Amino acid sequence: RKKKDLKIMISGAPASGKGTQCELITTKYDLVHVAAGDLLRAEIAAGSESGKKAKEYMEKGQLVPDEIVVMMVKDRLSQPDSAEKGWLLDGYPRSSSQATALQAFGFKPDLFILLEVPQEILVDRVVGRRLDPVTGRIYHLTYSPPETEEIAARLTQRFDDTEERVKLRLQTHNQNVESVLSLFEDITVKVDGSLSKEDVFAKIDSALSNLIEQESATAAT
Ligand code: AP5
Repeated sequence: RKKKDLKIMISGAPASGKGTQCELITTKYDLVHVAAGDLLRAEIAAGSESGKKAKEYMEKGQLVPDEIVVMMVKDRLSQPDSAEKGWLLDGYPRSSSQATALQAFGFKPDLFILLEVPQEILVDRVVGRRLDPVTGRIYHLTYSPPETEEIAARLTQRFDDTEERVKLRLQTHNQNVESVLSLFEDITVKVDGSLSKEDVFAKIDSALSNLIEQESATAAT
């Protein structure tokens, strides 16, 4: 088995570094990055009914209802590119009902990556986060500053990235995380997400190469 059909889930608190690691993972492993939050923000930008409804929940830092999120993620994973290249699912599932729903559609991960970051670091990461609307890249004013003046001038901030809202998002995460983790215990890799982004990636990279090695060894026997 080759790396091309890996199926990975990545989870962690708000601003634990999921999106940042997904940029690095997809560059090396060529997987399709499916981010629940990005799909929702695309619905909001498109002005759809689902988008309008989703925004009400996102502004309060609450989970968007399953009837919107489940089909949205299922549809994206069902696209031909996800089936061919393999996928990296970011920010989903966030509840046991979401996990069960996806499994019922036949989507089962090989590995569940959990980024662990102490709470006090998370607020600082959220407040300093900026996005480049042209490339989609994630920056941080202190930890990952933009490379040029031109990029710096066009950076934007997410509507839910205020100190007040991240506290609500954290509460929601803390209420739900255990119920999701318990479902994936046997395939979970916990990674210390408070290290530098390169060091975090080194740990994930080694977990992924181990997985590929193990599976090709199994395939050979
Ligand atoms: P979503 O968009 O998924 O947001 P989130 O889970 O809060 O996670 P973030 O995107 O904020 O952070 P991240 O972990 O990707 O961190 P990043 O790499 O950017 O969800 C938003 C909302 O949508 C939810 O609140 C909910 O309402 C709704 N939603 C989404 N999924 C849903 C679902 N399944 N069901 C229902 N509702 C759903 O990094 C953060 C910052 O830190 C950046 O500035 C970065 O440069 C910096 N940084 C990253 N790594 C490091 C490092 N190692 N060292 C120093 N700085 C770092």
